[in-house]
Amino acid sequence: MICSMDKKFKPIRIGIIGAGYVGLTTGVCFSDIGHQVLCADSDSSKLERLRQGESPFFEPGLEELLRKNVASGRLRFISDNTELVANSDVIFICVNTPPKSDGRADLRYVEQVAKEIAFALPDEYRLIVDKSTVPVHTAEKVTETIRRYRPDAKSFDVVSNPEFLREGSAIEDTMRPDRIVVGASSDRARQLMREVYQPILNQTKAELCEVSIRSAELIKHGANTLLATKISFANLIADACENVGANASEVLHGIGIDRRIGEAFLKPGIGFGGSCFPKDIAAFRHTLQTVGVSPALVTAVEEINDTAYRRFLQRIERVLWVLDGKRICVLGLSFKANTDDLRNAPSLRIIRALLKEGAVVSAYDPKARAKAQHAVPEVKYADNPYAAAEGSEAIVVCTEWDEFTQLDLPRLRKLVLMPIIFDGRNVINRASAEAAGFTYYGVGH
Ligand code: UDX
Ligand code: UDX
Repeated sequence: MICSMDKKFKPIRIGIIGAGYVGLTTGVCFSDIGHQVLCADSDSSKLERLRQGESPFFEPGLEELLRKNVASGRLRFISDNTELVANSDVIFICVNTPPKSDGRADLRYVEQVAKEIAFALPDEYRLIVDKSTVPVHTAEKVTETIRRYRPDAKSFDVVSNPEFLREGSAIEDTMRPDRIVVGASSDRARQLMREVYQPILNQTKAELCEVSIRSAELIKHGANTLLATKISFANLIADACENVGANASEVLHGIGIDRRIGEAFLKPGIGFGGSCFPKDIAAFRHTLQTVGVSPALVTAVEEINDTAYRRFLQRIERVLWVLDGKRICVLGLSFKANTDDLRNAPSLRIIRALLKEGAVVSAYDPKARAKAQHAVPEVKYADNPYAAAEGSEAIVVCTEWDEFTQLDLPRLRKLVLMPIIFDGRNVINRASAEAAGFTYYGVGH
């Protein structure tokens, strides 16, 4: 863990507005490295749970750090943004930026918070930080909003400090990031941001990228778009491999081993989901269109991602023929492993399509059951993969949970009615599945 034993360390009063995945993780980590953190959210029931040390979502290690820092008094949850602005030197905006129907980021919450900050600004300097993922020019708009509602505001800066944390490893990504990007236009703002991140910068190899505000905003959308491009490229190769009878794992390893390319984010599957990639890529496409740059590459990435789960479904239908009345077991529901997040989860699209065809669906997920019960109540949920698979005519894997690599396949074989596995994440070992008597279909094989 990062600790702030450095004698020169000066705790900073930090305010976080929006205690969602990003804001809560950021607040918890800042308090853990020694800062004094106030966290506000407009959802009072969420605040109540947080005060009790209960995380509103599953994220490895988060609840322990939350409890530790609430107990130490360094992390407090409040409902009033005015109180937060009065008592924080650095204020992070971490509210959600959902997509509009045309892909544009809906910035109403960011504007609302900017107005609230404006009305609450004291005479003393305040640093306002955009951490929510936002399109280029947003920091300028936040500055403009504050000036418009508080023409008398004396001393403040707005900086862009995008987050790069992945759900499932959010604490590790925050505490040991590859880089910390700060887009600022004043020395005072840059210096204060260095102090905020000092313990992390001192004790990790994280690179501090101090850039212009617009560059920082573009780094975030650019990074997510490139990662999504790699995934769609992998899915394109997988599609080609299925059509020509090659093996995508071999092909992508052969491509990714080149250090200029890298193997990370080259795993084919049923497509990327989550709260970030689909929305950020759509927002970036919209930005490109607005500034007169062709969005063709981004559009292709989106199209391939949409094809990935459809292609998988077609394969299931081709093999199983009539789906009406077929008993199908879905293993894994969350959009990726180590989270209970179902936002844009490909599993939900697949389950809804199977249900529409009349299939009888059972499911198991180590963490996402409660949320899934709410989203698709027609499914029969089980406590473990074996109970979910009992009597099924096909197993469909939708999430890359580590647990599924350890399945007792001979035991599973005895429980199912028909031994067929469709592995949408290539997590089950084909040879072991076949040795246990299953017919195995991976993606790109
Ligand atoms: C969100 C964005 O979607 C993401 O792009 C960005 O990088 C960070 O913020 P996330 O943290 O996953 O991601 O969003 P969410 O879990 O929905 O959390 C947002 C929180 O802000 C919620 O708890 C919501 O109640 C709160 N909120 C929203 C406010 O406190 N005030 C508001 O006006 C609006
Ligand atoms: C992403 C970014 O990685 C993070 O930096 C950003 O700030 C927030 O968005 P997250 O959405 O939490 O993080 O998860 P990530 O690990 O990026 O996975 C996104 C999706 O891509 C998942 O559905 C995952 O299953 C899928 N994926 C990932 C693939 O299909 N193949 C891969 O090789 C990698």
